[in-house]
Amino acid sequence: MEMAWWQRGIVYQVYPRSFQDTNGDGVGDLRGIAERLDYLVSLGVDAVWLSPIYPSPMADFGYDVADYCGIDPIFGTMADFDALVARAHGLGLKLILDFVPNHTSDQHPWFLDSSASRTSPHRDWYLWRDPAPDGGPPNNWLSNFGGLGWTLDERTGQYYYHSFLPQQPDLNWRNPAVRAAMADALRFWLNRGVDGFRVDVMWMMIKDDQFRDNPPNPDYTPGGSSHDRLIPLYTADRPEVHDVVAGLRRVLDEYPDRVMIGELYLPIDRLVTYYGPNLDGAQLPFNFQLLLSAWNAATIAAIIETYEAALPAGGWPNWVLGNHDRPRIASRIGAAQARVAAMLLLTLRGTPTIFYGEEIGMEDVPIPPAEVQDPAEKREPGRGLGRDPERTPMLWDGSSGHGFSTGTPWLRFGAQATDAARQAADPTSMLALYRELIALRRGSPALLHGRVAHVVADGDVLSYERHSDTQRLAIFLNLGETPRSIYTSAGKIILSTQGRGETLAGETTLGGSEAIVVEIRASDQP
Ligand code: NOJ
Ligand code: CA
Repeated sequence: MEMAWWQRGIVYQVYPRSFQDTNGDGVGDLRGIAERLDYLVSLGVDAVWLSPIYPSPMADFGYDVADYCGIDPIFGTMADFDALVARAHGLGLKLILDFVPNHTSDQHPWFLDSSASRTSPHRDWYLWRDPAPDGGPPNNWLSNFGGLGWTLDERTGQYYYHSFLPQQPDLNWRNPAVRAAMADALRFWLNRGVDGFRVDVMWMMIKDDQFRDNPPNPDYTPGGSSHDRLIPLYTADRPEVHDVVAGLRRVLDEYPDRVMIGELYLPIDRLVTYYGPNLDGAQLPFNFQLLLSAWNAATIAAIIETYEAALPAGGWPNWVLGNHDRPRIASRIGAAQARVAAMLLLTLRGTPTIFYGEEIGMEDVPIPPAEVQDPAEKREPGRGLGRDPERTPMLWDGSSGHGFSTGTPWLRFGAQATDAARQAADPTSMLALYRELIALRRGSPALLHGRVAHVVADGDVLSYERHSDTQRLAIFLNLGETPRSIYTSAGKIILSTQGRGETLAGETTLGGSEAIVVEIRASDQP
């Protein structure tokens, strides 16, 4: 099968602030990322996605962009960026940038002009509305970070809408000038050799043009995010968004071999519409089902089958265990099951994305209130919404700065007795498991492009097969702690989370939290 690099490859997400600091200011930078590319090559990944590196007041740590065509000085210079691209490409790695089209920073020159007067040239680039008759907000739309989604601009007497912080005003994607300017921003980076984009909150880019109130959410339980009080019927996943997405894709398609990944927190039936009616949308609409699901065999089996069945003809699947917005997998399900999750991620059909540190089993780090950085936590404290715990610096080695920084890190380190250097020397480590799994996957036609068959949940054991024309693999994962009997066709264990590798025929015992890949003997293949 002819595969594109983004189908064959593995994506690795770097959160630039937390990967590698080179100048001692405690914040990771582009030079640091360049220095660590060799590590990523030895891990075996193919593409690096960087969370935003553009000039930003950092109200939301770069997801508030003040210039789409620059580099924030905290991360370095454009020359550092060009050097990073060159180094990545020299090592055979692709580079993917984060693109944040839904909103800008309130310090972006477009918004400064837009808010200067009602007749400013950029006025209609954002979502401005008159107050309600009582002077209150135009409707009931909320911010995803808590509170109202509308902020009154005293100077011009109108409210502007922000899906996130007031410092992140939403752009008006119905305005052709916005579309043209953003297309040019994409071309700016594509011309510098960037291989693709992860598009922030892709499903939120267009809102109802009649600004209708969102309906109440009957399932809302107090204590969580106040945003969940309403169903975002008129503020997200609008039919018109697909035209915007297709427009972005057309820009990428002006260049050979680029990829568009969409951030999409949607149920499967809605998610798959983002491939576009003619596969003219995102090539990889992020599939976050594993990130959100309960960790048990029946639920995950159902997810695999529902997702596979929902994919449009020609639509390529993808899987994710973690990112900078959600608790880390090792904290969600524990260290032993995190190894099982790694096996799952890397043996399912479709492009896997690894969040930095996942490959060494990094855990969430509790951040004391006085050290909180994340605006989501600051706006609605104590509800478990804060994202600092999963954003702490990479643990490279056992030195005092963990090889991350010689200065004070912007977020404290985890207290875990783990680091990449120690694990590199230990054949039983998580890092060793990731390297083995990735190497296996790279050389396996069944894992790279074989179909998924026989998805079964039997108690705590999840199993499935991967079949190509030349190879048949059976994967067994014990999602519980108790050993279980399993039955397999005759074959050989070619990878195990516990490091065993014997030949099997018929019954065997899968240890608690053990997962294995069995290569079915050729004579037993269909
Ligand atoms: C999704 C990003 O992943 C998150 O970190 C950010 O806060 C919001 N979008 C707003 O841009
Ligand atoms: Ca730095």
